[in-house]
Amino acid sequence: MRRVLLGFIGVTALWAAPEYQRDVRPILARRCVSCHRPGEIGPMALTSFAEVRPWAKALRQAVAKGTMPPWHADPAKSVAFHNDRSLTAAERKTLLDWVDGGAVEGQAAAASVAEVKPAGWGLGQPDLIIKVPRFAIPNAGTIQYTFLVTPTDLPEAKWIAAAEWRIDKRSLVHHINAFIRPKGSSYVSDAPAGQFFVASKASRASRRPDEREADRRELLLGYEPGYRPQGWGDGRAKLLPKSADIVFEMHYTANGKAAVDESELGIYFAKDAPRERVLTITPADSAFAIPPGDGNVPSSTAAILQRELTLLSMQPHMHLCALNHKVALREA
Ligand code: HEC
Repeated sequence: MRRVLLGFIGVTALWAAPEYQRDVRPILARRCVSCHRPGEIGPMALTSFAEVRPWAKALRQAVAKGTMPPWHADPAKSVAFHNDRSLTAAERKTLLDWVDGGAVEGQAAAASVAEVKPAGWGLGQPDLIIKVPRFAIPNAGTIQYTFLVTPTDLPEAKWIAAAEWRIDKRSLVHHINAFIRPKGSSYVSDAPAGQFFVASKASRASRRPDEREADRRELLLGYEPGYRPQGWGDGRAKLLPKSADIVFEMHYTANGKAAVDESELGIYFAKDAPRERVLTITPADSAFAIPPGDGNVPSSTAAILQRELTLLSMQPHMHLCALNHKVALREA
């Protein structure tokens, strides 16, 4: 009698243990593979059972500790974020139970085949593709922030419904920002068009006293590791004024292997005039210093807004500056 009972329990447990193909693969596809696939920033690909199985223990540890997927907002203390990439409690449990249950593969469900999107434009074929010319990244050394002014030469103003980066050498790109620079702007006004250029600090900070932020420059789209293509939402768009330039600001980091980067910016124009204009402003407190050991230093910055608006997103950003031990909020 006892034997039969044990056997029964064993069968139940086996049936309930999560399997890679049925239970784990969809979670990894949703939560991990955007970084853990060839060419991305994750140190290993997690797109197949053969790739994932050797990492089962490390995966368990990272998930149990909450270090993966990277998401630093504490859900108990923060608002709900639209782009929250953390695991749900059920997803977390499935991953942990899968490893504890022996990390078995199981059978592939027929419908789960094409979960990993091929590399390409996530938002579809852009209306306009602006290529960043080939940039040779050396194998070592510090690479200065590099600028490139690309005139759009569009005969009329356009509304941009969305933009997307296609980054080539992801392991070497610390960030790339694309700014819209209206004609007559004071922003890096000494940069020659069409050539890589290291802008001086003064040129980057220049502003005429009466110049409005949106007339000087606007961040169209930034890329940094972890970036996911995303539009601004229905009925919303950014303005690309007539004859505006796109100014690229590139920060490459050497990692021991020289390479040539050929990244691209895709632009999707709105079909109709939008209901709402989206504007990205970048006020910064770039002069505050954190005394060594002080864990609670406030920083503030301000911008004067001309009208009521809705806050769509916010990106606090800090840099450690090794030279003078200052931390600056990012300008962009
Ligand atoms: C936003 C990008 C990103 C996402 C999403 C992400 N990872 Fe990672 N992951 C990384 C990076 C970058 C590293 C290397 C971190 C380092 O070296 O400090 C890493 C490292 C790891 C490691 C190795 C840790 C170790 O022990 O060395 C594991 C395991 C891992 N990730 C699992 C996952 C799993 C599982 C998910 C999804 C649930 C996930 N990651 C989602 C970027 C990501």
